[in-house]
Amino acid sequence: MSERGTTAAQQFYGRWARLYDFLASATPGLSQLRGRAVDELGLASGDTVIEMGCGTGANFSHLRKRVGPNGTVVGVDFTRGMLQQARNRVEREGWKNVHLVQADAAAFELRGEVDAVLATFVVGMLDDPHTTIGRWLDGISSGGGLALLDAGQSTHPYSWPVNQAFRGLVIASTPGGGTNFEKPPWNVLDERVAEARRMLSERTVETSNSEHALGIVRITGGKIP
Ligand SMILES: C[S@@+](CC[C@H](N)C(=O)[O-])C[C@H]1O[C@@H](n2cnc3c(N)ncnc32)[C@H](O)[C@@H]1O
Repeated sequence: MSERGTTAAQQFYGRWARLYDFLASATPGLSQLRGRAVDELGLASGDTVIEMGCGTGANFSHLRKRVGPNGTVVGVDFTRGMLQQARNRVEREGWKNVHLVQADAAAFELRGEVDAVLATFVVGMLDDPHTTIGRWLDGISSGGGLALLDAGQSTHPYSWPVNQAFRGLVIASTPGGGTNFEKPPWNVLDERVAEARRMLSERTVETSNSEHALGIVRITGGKIP
């Protein structure tokens, strides 16, 4: 992401971190979808999982449940305010094996044994999802998993009203309302998500793609050969 884009995203998510935390945790049905995305990682007790763009940590309970007390969860995000909400969650729950790192997920180096990477509602914010997903895949151990959970315009029949509502949500949740793009921000989002899913499909085995919530939500997962 350009320096200006990064700063705008950090300011935006920093300002709305508390509200985001509420919506990320309380939106009906979302926790189940988070759980389904985490299932795609194929985690086992004792594993190490990295969550890119972890935000306020709404996935942590799902990840912790799968890796158990001897596993490790690392949350990476570049927005201080979002990480502060995540830190509050970790302290409130008394989780000792959840660690937080403030860093750019597009440049984050995966070191040591990494069993899985998760990114939910993040790849649509990456300037170059192809390169970034490739870098993540390179850092995951053989047999490990990568899963993405994203929203996008639906292709279902009768999807017009759903897509109108979705476009409104994209404008509200994109730094600057997405006015800095040459195309409508929902098209940019769709293209980036499609590119990320394509890269994942090319490089993984046992790849699965599913659509939920009238086709607005997509979950993609695969294993490193
Ligand atoms: C829409 S929120 C999703 C948060 C969380 N994954 C969830 O599902 O609730 C996007 C998050 O990604 C973070 N983010 C976006 N691009 C990033 C990057 N390149 N590096 C690190 N964090 C990033 C933002 O700071 C924000 O917290």
